[in-house]
Amino acid sequence: MYFKIRGMKDKDINRIIDIERESFEYSYPPSLIMQVYTSFPEGFLVVEEANSKKLIGYIMGIIEWGNGHIISIAVDREYKNKGIGTMLLNALEHILFKRYNINNMVLEVKFDNKIARKFYYSKGYNDKRLLKNYYDDGSDAILMVKKNPYIPSKNSPIIVNMW
Ligand SMILES: CC(C)(COP(=O)(O)OP(=O)(O)OC[C@H]1O[C@@H](n2cnc3c(N)ncnc32)[C@H](O)[C@@H]1OP(=O)(O)O)[C@@H](O)C(=O)NCCC(=O)NCCS
Repeated sequence: MYFKIRGMKDKDINRIIDIERESFEYSYPPSLIMQVYTSFPEGFLVVEEANSKKLIGYIMGIIEWGNGHIISIAVDREYKNKGIGTMLLNALEHILFKRYNINNMVLEVKFDNKIARKFYYSKGYNDKRLLKNYYDDGSDAILMVKKNPYIPSKNSPIIVNMW
């Protein structure tokens, strides 16, 4: 099976919403997903199965305070654990670290989301801070960070927008 990565297009939105809903108990509303897309289209990538053109995963990221911020990543449940998430994350990191020269990649992940945390650890992300009551249901998040490996290490503060 071959997979192709490309930028998100308007026509992808319904499929992205389906995967988002299937993947998260509290999924982002379509309006927010569209807002992320319009604010920074280059940071919104999808993977499709090359023959069928079926969309099977996406990642969305923005730039905030000099950092790349991953808003969401999800893979269709039938295609998990086949390296699709890795393809998406590598591609976004390439754009943000190399083209935009950001200082760090940052993200919030649910404390209990063991699979996602393991996924990020395997990609060089580290736990930075516990964010108590981060989600609407009162559950906690972990702030995870990966420094840009292409710029010399400087201990600049990591500023994250806590909306
Ligand atoms: C997190 C997610 C995007 C990973 O995508 P994926 O395509 O399944 O991941 P990959 O196949 O690229 O896996 C890369 C690494 O992640 C870890 N990993 C992925 N799935 C795992 C699982 N089920 N159990 C344990 N580790 C897992 C492993 O370290 C794996 O490396 P390995 O294959 O060498 O063992 C996917 O599980 C998903 O969509 N989860 C639901 C949505 C979500 O939680 N998103 C993150 C929110 S912050």
